[in-house]
Amino acid sequence: MAQFFNKSANNIARISMVAAAVLAGVGGFAFTQFSRSSYLTGRYVEKQQPVQFSHKHHVGDDGIDCRYCHQTVETTATAGMPSTQTCMNCHSQLWADSPYLEPVRASFRDNKPIEWERVHDLPEYTYFNHSIHVAKGVGCSTCHGQIDNMPAVYQENTLQMEWCIACHRAPEKFIRPKKEIFNMAWQDGDLDEKERKQLKDDLKIRSKEMMTSCSTCHR
Ligand code: HEC
Ligand code: HEC
Ligand code: HEC
Ligand code: HEC
Ligand code: HEC
Repeated sequence: MAQFFNKSANNIARISMVAAAVLAGVGGFAFTQFSRSSYLTGRYVEKQQPVQFSHKHHVGDDGIDCRYCHQTVETTATAGMPSTQTCMNCHSQLWADSPYLEPVRASFRDNKPIEWERVHDLPEYTYFNHSIHVAKGVGCSTCHGQIDNMPAVYQENTLQMEWCIACHRAPEKFIRPKKEIFNMAWQDGDLDEKERKQLKDDLKIRSKEMMTSCSTCHR
């Protein structure tokens, strides 16, 4: 009987099988990279704001506390945004003629709040709460990065589910003493492993099972 496939055909089949596997791998990798890309997660994207407000100036250079403007961050789910009055506490005197501040003065005159563009925005079906994180030793910079260095705020982390869960599984890797919550220069290595385990006990952080249960974040 004639041979349908000679030796070289066998090789071709083998090579194309390998090629298909490699391609599938590359495709799968590309997909996971895409779903983590800043195009989808909004990571590192700076938003055009109605006023060129700089955290680098106000926090980094002038040392204004986060709570002066984000007043409810320790007490409620949302951090809260500053009212125009808060800006005018200083800017009715300071830089009072600056053209950059005209939208702030207009907002004050017309009694219309400034409409800040949201930088971080979780989907509706997830529940997030600032006060609990702050109370349990998670600092602003752990989630938001070094805001004091940002002329315009951008999203430092993906805010995807896997990011939340990575911490909920092992919060002892990321927590810090409560007096350091607003310290933008804090590094996780500033406490050793033993101290962080102790801190987890002191703060009475709930079990991994409760922290990773679907109903904690989807309710
Ligand atoms: C003088 C007022 C002021 C102070 C102080 C201040 N912020 Fe803000 N913050 C703002 C304003 C105004 C915006 C909205 C404009 C923008 O995004 O830059 C904002 C936006 C943000 C956002 C993005 C909000 C969003 O839409 O997702 C984060 C995060 C944030 N601030 C964190 C901090 C942290 C952390 C500190 C302290 C280290 C701080 N801020 C101190 C006024 C302030
Ligand atoms: C505690 C005082 C204080 C508060 C409150 C404050 N600022 Fe300022 N702001 C300053 C100082 C000081 C400067 C000068 C910046 C610098 O170079 O450090 C400044 C500078 C600015 C500038 C740049 C002006 C220019 O001509 O370059 C803008 C814009 C601005 N602030 C917006 C705001 C907005 C919007 C708010 C409210 C969310 C606000 N500021 C709240 C103190 C304040
Ligand atoms: C565990 C992570 C985490 C920590 C810690 C954290 N934030 Fe946030 N922050 C978020 C997320 C997630 C959002 C978006 C919330 C949403 O879309 O509902 C957000 C939103 C914000 C906003 C926009 C307004 C709002 O409440 O939605 C501001 C302002 C802000 N954070 C400031 C702060 C400050 C100041 C601190 C420190 C005291 C802080 N955050 C600590 C994760 C965190
Ligand atoms: C760096 C660590 C860290 C990150 C990141 C983080 N969390 Fe948490 N989360 C905690 C800790 C610690 C607690 C406190 C648990 C406790 O109460 O013992 C907590 C508690 C919570 C709770 C419980 C609140 C309540 O009232 O029952 C919710 C909801 C939550 N986190 C949602 C989120 C979501 C959504 C994200 C991602 C957008 C997120 N967390 C990211 C550390 C983190
Ligand atoms: C610590 C908080 C947290 C927990 C626990 C959690 N999720 Fe999520 N989940 C999120 C966040 C945040 C998002 C939004 C992600 C985004 O915007 O990309 C999300 C998104 C989703 C989505 C939308 C699709 C996707 O993947 O983006 C589904 C489905 C989902 N979660 C199911 C679950 C199930 C099932 C569980 C329990 C096994 C669970 N989640 C536990 C925070 C959580």
